[in-house]
Amino acid sequence: MTTARITIDRDFTIGDVPRRLFGSFVEHMGRCVYTGIYEPGHPQADARGFRKDVLALVKELGPTVVRYPGGNFVSGYLWEDGVGPVEKRPRRLDGAWHTIESNAFGLHEFVEWAKEADVEIMEAVNLGTRGVEEARALVEYANHPSGTYWSDLRRTNGAADPFDIKLWCLGNELDGPWQIGGKTAQEYGRLAQETAKAMKFVDPSIELVAVGSSNRQMPTFGSWEHTVLTHAYDEVDYISMHAYYQEHDGDAASFLAEAVDMDAFIDGVIATVDAVKAAGKHTKQVDISFDEWNVWYQSGLETEDQPHQVAKGWREYPRLIEDTYNVTDAVVVGTFLHSLLRHGDRVKIANQAQLVNVIAPIRSEQGGPAWRQSIFWPFARIASHARGRILRLAIDSTQMATKRYGDVDVVDAAATWDEENGTIALFLANRSLTDASDLTVDLRGLGATTVRSAEVLTVPEGGDRLVANVVDDQDRVGLTPLRGVDVVDGAVRATLPPLSWSVVILDTARA
Ligand code: AHR
Repeated sequence: MTTARITIDRDFTIGDVPRRLFGSFVEHMGRCVYTGIYEPGHPQADARGFRKDVLALVKELGPTVVRYPGGNFVSGYLWEDGVGPVEKRPRRLDGAWHTIESNAFGLHEFVEWAKEADVEIMEAVNLGTRGVEEARALVEYANHPSGTYWSDLRRTNGAADPFDIKLWCLGNELDGPWQIGGKTAQEYGRLAQETAKAMKFVDPSIELVAVGSSNRQMPTFGSWEHTVLTHAYDEVDYISMHAYYQEHDGDAASFLAEAVDMDAFIDGVIATVDAVKAAGKHTKQVDISFDEWNVWYQSGLETEDQPHQVAKGWREYPRLIEDTYNVTDAVVVGTFLHSLLRHGDRVKIANQAQLVNVIAPIRSEQGGPAWRQSIFWPFARIASHARGRILRLAIDSTQMATKRYGDVDVVDAAATWDEENGTIALFLANRSLTDASDLTVDLRGLGATTVRSAEVLTVPEGGDRLVANVVDDQDRVGLTPLRGVDVVDGAVRATLPPLSWSVVILDTARA
């Protein structure tokens, strides 16, 4: 048995929970759109072709904002292809994923779907093969009421009211050699600055995300952000971060500690942003949009049926990176969400990549069922319960040795306090594969408290850490009651099973 003592105090907070932290991502990639959220002819499809079974799972998952339409896809995408009469839309080669894009699903369809799913839209513009004019025109098409070429075209295409899209990405991963139309930091910084100006001339109320490094290992990480923001600091509101993690060579301990890397990555980007702010004598604050993150088995899983990176041959919606997630992955995803919450004073937007089928919490089969992957559960519970203020935790935990990160806390946690509703939400991961953890949470100053609910995701009976939900056994991994959680003398006492992620909701006496 290991031990962990967490102290929380109503006066020690990080800030309000940014609800956009629980975002997701729909890219025209693999089967995320086609046979994912959209499949005309499926027994569960509505008149518009939206899969109602998938929509129900999306609502249960609870993302607040969804990034669209890419990703690498956006860097070669012509948004005009996806509007207007469907029968007139062109079929194109998508070079990013070596796929044929039918354009049956485009902007209007996504706006309709987002309304149904009750999510905010985060729209990306193509700054790979395109530039200022096409991005400016798209804002006019989407957000200008009427009386101009682009806004009237939207009306002709069936949408009398503007879409009023507030959040926009200025391209995607343009530092990457794999990106269509990749750029140097100088080239991108100037383009982002000029595109941002033109987009805000059309609609000054929009918020813009500049492209940061594609990951922390990029050789230009740090200098890329510095150069881009030196050009565009005044014009943009956020800089993006992307990170994907996987278990390497069976080293589960290091994998379970990857949130240590995520914490350090975020701290590094904050330092760079603030250095540009100071040097440029700026007064406004640029924050972070962590608009792609997840577990992604980028190496080691490639099969004929499940190719990674690009499809083989030109086909519509090939099966791409449909990773199956196990119990270990779910615990790691829980800790990533803790890391984002810990940085909620600066990370204001985050998007798990992606929503359906493509490295996703939801899976679906063409003509068949849809189900929840293991990683669905920490996201769904945190998105639902993380409200009010983020509490700053003092954690005193048994240490666990890892090859990559040295000694790390065996228990990782985050907590929020919803004063209005009188609840505290505790999110708790036990990283040990072998030992339960004896947990005490000292609730200083938070008043008399009772346990409203306590749930845990862990290895199911008869399973191991690699069990997953699959088409023939869709509910193997999920949440079960966490028994024996008590409040004694102003402290929560619980035992966290080995390799587990838990959520405990407490009722507090209101002030
Ligand atoms: O989410 C899958 C891909 O990962 C995205 O298209 C790209 O932006 C990133 O490299």
